Parts: sequence; structure tokens; C-alpha cells
Amino acid sequence: MSIKQTQAWQKLSDMKKKLVKEPLSVGDGLQVKTDKIIFDYSRQLVNENVMAALMQLAEEAGLKSKIESMFCGQKINVTENRAVLHTALRNLSGGPVLVDGRDVMPEIKAVLQKIKGFSSRIHSGEIKGITGKPLKNIVAIGIGGSYLGPEYLAEACAPYTVSGMKLSFISNVDGTDFARKTASLDPETALFVIVSKTFTTAETMKNASTAKKWMISKLGADPNVIKKHFIAVSTAADKVKAFGIDPENMFGFWDFVGGRFSATSAVGGVPLSLYLGYDNFHKILEGANWMDVHYRTAPLSENIPVISALLDIWNINFMGFKTRAILPYSQAYSKYAPHCQQTEMESNGKSVLIDGTPVDFDTGEIVFGEPGTNGQHSFYQLIHQGTTPVPADFIGFLKPQYNVGQEDVITHHDELMTNFFAQPDALAFGQDSNDPHKKFSGKRPSNIFLLKEQDPFSAGLMLALLEHRVATKGFVWGLNSFDQFGVELGKKLGLDIRRRMELFKKDQKDPSVYAGLNNSTAKLLKLYLSGELYS
Ligand code: F6P
Repeated sequence: MSIKQTQAWQKLSDMKKKLVKEPLSVGDGLQVKTDKIIFDYSRQLVNENVMAALMQLAEEAGLKSKIESMFCGQKINVTENRAVLHTALRNLSGGPVLVDGRDVMPEIKAVLQKIKGFSSRIHSGEIKGITGKPLKNIVAIGIGGSYLGPEYLAEACAPYTVSGMKLSFISNVDGTDFARKTASLDPETALFVIVSKTFTTAETMKNASTAKKWMISKLGADPNVIKKHFIAVSTAADKVKAFGIDPENMFGFWDFVGGRFSATSAVGGVPLSLYLGYDNFHKILEGANWMDVHYRTAPLSENIPVISALLDIWNINFMGFKTRAILPYSQAYSKYAPHCQQTEMESNGKSVLIDGTPVDFDTGEIVFGEPGTNGQHSFYQLIHQGTTPVPADFIGFLKPQYNVGQEDVITHHDELMTNFFAQPDALAFGQDSNDPHKKFSGKRPSNIFLLKEQDPFSAGLMLALLEHRVATKGFVWGLNSFDQFGVELGKKLGLDIRRRMELFKKDQKDPSVYAGLNNSTAKLLKLYLSGELYS
């Protein structure tokens, strides 16, 4: 049954009609306080009745039992027949987690031990490159979920780096990415980490094989060059071996960890432990676990991922606001929005319910963002005065990462935070004016998330908050948030174009190069292959 058929949905539709006429009142009640994070949603266009109806919606959707099914390892990713257990990756002091009757915790702990041992032997210099130099330049090659989460965490935790260690990411198949990241890379101190769950992703395999050629051209064709300068994170041991990587240097994970939910597996664990040290990676796991426990145990009405997800549903399905801005007032969180983009949109950009029937309401939302205050000088004009409100998440911290300008009365961090406090109120309350150009309507909803430190623990907590907020929306809407068939068609057509390019390169006159293509694509491809825009 569609969630639209529930009593709560009907109630919410009726409430919306009345509520738009009411002024926004910022009350004390619309806040969740914990000792790690404060979530203030008092600037949302809701009142207590709406919140009660949203909670009823969650009950009618069976949210609690769906959350429990996820944590317990049931195969809730039904289209791929998989459990969804990224939470087990950080269940370090918890009990067994069973998949098909098998406890997965010993394997998870074994991989963590392996990461710990390997990273500490790199840091101590016990493991060296082929010429005997220490491996200090880590280059992670991966894309999508095998890149975005780790990059967000690496950026957010950069001051916690192990001295001398550097980490860069190559994701785009555009050779510019490879060329720039390797331009000043010292091959003798470089360690490539090939991160790919499937070890088949076209972009990653192309970058990995280019890296292999690059390394051979620099240090020679001895197979030990690849063995000493390449390691892998994957679920595909045979393919890793075929690439030339020592199977001992492969770090595994499991099909119950989806790509975009894999940052706390070896996908993030290996590059981040090399860069930040295992202990700091462990703190990321602790932060994520803190949020997991909160999500699983807090009552729905005090549950941060649940409330934030229900407010998203309210904004999307009832208020008609289908985009959301993610605005961390933190330069360290500059890669949070790109990670949110994948997690939100690859998970919930779906048009059918879990049983395959078409949805009859909007799902998913377009999320985007920039760190404050950069965004203020970019797209905030539209957020403040555009025709459709864009709900916004303001994320701020009590403490800066760097004490810059401490001698001033108003430090850099204070300066940043003046904006953090001002912007949500400008959106919420607006400004009247006789000049229509200077009017601000107000009643533009936002959330505030306030944390203490920009440290690995907080970074892990915010990662898990995102994961659970996304899952909650899928659970309430009745979607499968854990597959991603929508990315397949473009890949398939890309392979067909690749085949045509190969034909052309063998024989430029081969008529089958363009056969069966539509006119537009045939003409454009012809131009590309001719190398002239006006040929
Ligand atoms: O874009 C599709 C996708 O399958 C993502 O879901 C995934 O995170 C990414 O490609 C990378 O996949 P892999 O880790 O297998 O290389």
C-alpha cells in the first residue's frame, strides 16, 4: 500500500492548507539536545500538530520495525537480495550481527585489525617502496561511494594527519585528474590504493591501469613494483589478483555494505588510517556508532535522523519544496555536500515502491551545498528571494579547527558564526520594505545542527546521521533505498559508444560506426571523431 493511503498522510495534507496562513513561531519545544549534537528545527514550517501527524506517519509506515530489520541483518535490499549492514562496521563493542545465521562481526574485526597493522607498519617505515623509501604519498583511486565518503572524512579530519603523510584522490576518468594528481608525485614514495567494490567500474579501472603504466614507466617492470606500490580495497579478490596486486594487500568488505554506505568499511578505513592513523579512523567509527545507537534506541520524537527525515518529507510532499541546501559553516566540511548528493540522490531518486509499483507522490530531493560563508556570495540570493523556498541545513561548531585571529575580540571563528546565527533568522523572519526589491518574505524553513568540535568523532557522527536520514525517508516512502539501477542505462550506452569508437579507430570508413544511432548523436560523434567542430 502506498504511504499516501494512510490516515496520517491525509491529516498532513489538510494541515498544510491551514498552516500556510499561520505566522512562524519559534518555540522552545522544537529541539533535540544531546551532549554531542543539538538539532534545532524551530524554523521549520511546522507546529506541534504537524509533528504529531508526522510521527503518526512514521508509525503507520512501520518505521521502527524497518529500522530494526536493517540493524538485524535482514535482507531489506530485496532487489539485490542483500542485507544492509553498514552499522555492523562500527558495532565494535556490540553483540553478534547475523546474516544467514552467520555472525559477521569476527570478519569485520579481522579486517580492522589488518588495517591497523598495515597502516602502523607503513608509518613506522617497516613497509617501504621498492627503492627502500618510506611510502608517504597515498593516492586513492575510486569513484562514487568508493571516493566521496572517504574524501569528506579526509577533508573534515585533515588537521589530525600523521606527520608527513599525504592523501589525494583520483576519481574522474578525465585524464586531467590523473595528470594533475601525479604531476609532482614522487613514484618512490607513492602508494596507490585502488578502491572498488566490484573492481569493474570503468573509470576506476582506467585510472588504475594508467597508474600501473605510470609506475612501471618510472620504476620498471619488475612485478614487485606493483606489489609494493599498489594495494586494493574490494570484494573481488580474483580481479585484484589478476591486476597484479598481492592478495595479502587486499582489504575486503562484503555485499551487505552498499557503495555509498561504505565509508566506514575498508573503503574509508584503508586510506584514512594511512592518512590520519588508525586511532583517528577508530574515532570516526565511534562517532558513527554513537549516531547508530541514537537512531536505534531514541524514541521517534527525540530521534535526530528520524525527525530530520520526516521534516524533509513534510517539505517535499506537503509544502512542495523539492530541493535542499546543505550549508556547513566549516571549511573542513567542504566535501560534505558532495557526499550527501550521492547518498541522498542515488538512494531515494526512485519512481517505484519496493514491490515495483509506481509511486504516486514525489520521492527524493535535489540536495546541493557549499560551506558558509562562500555560499552566501553565490546562491543565497535565490534562497532568500527566489520564488520557491529552499529548505536549508545549517551545520556549525562551537570550536574552530585552527585558532586564527585569537588576538582579536572577534576571531575568525566568531566572524564565521555571526553568519551562522544570522542567516537562518533572515530566512525565517524576512524583512518588510516599501521597496519590493528589498522585501524578504520570511517563512523559509531551515534546520540548525550544532556540534562541539570539528574532530573525527563529529565527522563520523555526521556521516551516520546522513545515512540514517536517507534510510528513514526510504522506509517511510516504501522505497528500496539501497539499490541503484538508475546508473546502469547510461553505462550501457557508454559501452556501445566505446565499441563504435574502437571500430572507427580500426577503420574510419566503417559504416557500422554510426549505424542505428539517432541523427543528433551520429552527427555529434562524427564531429568528435573528426576533431573539428565545423567539419
Ligand atoms: O555510480 C554507480 C556506482 O555503482 C556507485 O553506487 C558506487 O559507489 C560506484 O559506482 C563505484 O563502484 P565500485 O566501488 O564498484 O567501483
